Amino acid sequence: MKNIRPLTGNADSKKVYIETYGCQMNVNDSEVILSILQDDGYVLTDNMGEADLILANTCSIRDNAEQRVWGRIEQFRLQKNRRPGVLVGIVGCMAERLKDGLLDSGAVDIVAGPDSYRSLPELLAAVTPDSPQMNVTLSHEETYGDITPVRMDRNGVSAYISIMRGCNNVCSYCIVPYTRGVERSRDPQTILREAEELFANGYREVSLLGQNVDSYLWKGPEGQTDFATLLAMVAQVSPELRVRFSTSHPKDISDEVIYTMAGYDNICRHIHLPVQSGSNAMLEKMRRKYTREWYLERVEKIRSVMPDCALTTDIIAGFCGETRQDHLDTLSLMEEVRFDYAFMFQYSERPGTLAARKYPDDVPPEVKTARLNEIIALQNRHSLESNEKDVGKTFRVLVEGVSKRNPGELYGRTSGNKVCVFPAQGHKAGDFVEVKVLSCTSATLISECVSGQKIVDLWQQEQ
Ligand code: SAH
Ligand code: SF4
Ligand code: F3S
Repeated sequence: MKNIRPLTGNADSKKVYIETYGCQMNVNDSEVILSILQDDGYVLTDNMGEADLILANTCSIRDNAEQRVWGRIEQFRLQKNRRPGVLVGIVGCMAERLKDGLLDSGAVDIVAGPDSYRSLPELLAAVTPDSPQMNVTLSHEETYGDITPVRMDRNGVSAYISIMRGCNNVCSYCIVPYTRGVERSRDPQTILREAEELFANGYREVSLLGQNVDSYLWKGPEGQTDFATLLAMVAQVSPELRVRFSTSHPKDISDEVIYTMAGYDNICRHIHLPVQSGSNAMLEKMRRKYTREWYLERVEKIRSVMPDCALTTDIIAGFCGETRQDHLDTLSLMEEVRFDYAFMFQYSERPGTLAARKYPDDVPPEVKTARLNEIIALQNRHSLESNEKDVGKTFRVLVEGVSKRNPGELYGRTSGNKVCVFPAQGHKAGDFVEVKVLSCTSATLISECVSGQKIVDLWQQEQ
């Protein structure tokens, strides 16, 4: 059972410590890296102080993401000073963006981009204190489809499956197409196999990941597989396996995907649909290739087919040339849609992107901050209102573990991805439990179990 986290290796095993920054795809990439390194004789350690190899899997999406990693590199340098022979590797998007610029720090031995993880054993074999190693070649084919990720989660309930890599869009603010290369889809049979293995190993939820899952397309000898078809294939693994996916692109999310979701109870009622801005002028400049009206039509379609479907989004405040009116358009779109949750950011210029080359980053930092704060305040109100509407309702929740705040309570998520906490009644991670919501905060549904007996047990008794 390779995809179970290894606890110990041989006495002579080398130890690797991995820190992961950025998106869910990076979390999954770290699991691919661990699989490759495990085959090369490494075991995972949680303790940086005993690691032979320290890896940071990095993110370049905003400047502050990179600044955090530069801070960590200084910590890694201390480890190298204290324990000669320790190797430091910077992998992922920042490695791809900065390339040998990372070696100038003198604290980095290995630089590997997102498509070169298979070469890590060779880089490790070749590295010496005087000759750091780098591979930042991007690929048109690499999907790591044949590699079984070694899961690093602790609960054994919920896992990520990358279904594609790269991105073919050119949103003008975004660094991802430069760090991750062109879009390529993974063989659906390898995706299905991974989902089946996870289910057999006790996992009860998979999240299918891609920068734009709606453009997933596999062309094989037996014909084409699009995202709606893939979603249905994974949903059929078992009714007891929940399926999530992220990220949907408003320009590409199809009616077929919406109807497929509606056709399967185990495809979670949640769509992450990043809008970025409510202003058509900004959307055009961002090269998102949809309008506010198009976005609102997609939302209406989703809600007409699945009235209970949760909607979440990403918003950027203070993009190039954004006027007060553009900002007000974003707030009014938020009022119209009433997202259940949002990730909200200030625009951060990324070197080399279209926006950096073409448009001055001219919204003053204090205006960006003020606008972001207004967006956050409005979203907090909407999140609270969305949760208040759930008070008194019952939900089927997948238990993920023991609440951090109260060891007598469990936590889990609803189909709409809301976190519920409730007193434990003999249930454990991986169980499906029916809960009733008693009260809420803007982040959590405070609940109680309404089925004393585990739903899965009842279901099994009926068979
Ligand atoms: N592929 C996804 C999102 C990828 S990045 C999509 O198309 O929506 C996640 C989020 O980071 C983006 O949705 C965007 O809101 C934000 N983001 C990307 N580049 C940014 C930048 N330069 N400054 C601020 N936020 C950015
Ligand atoms: Fe970036 Fe746009 Fe691709 Fe998302 S779709 S990763 S925002 S370029
Ligand atoms: Fe960051 Fe790269 Fe993901 S830039 S958001 S880690 S694709």
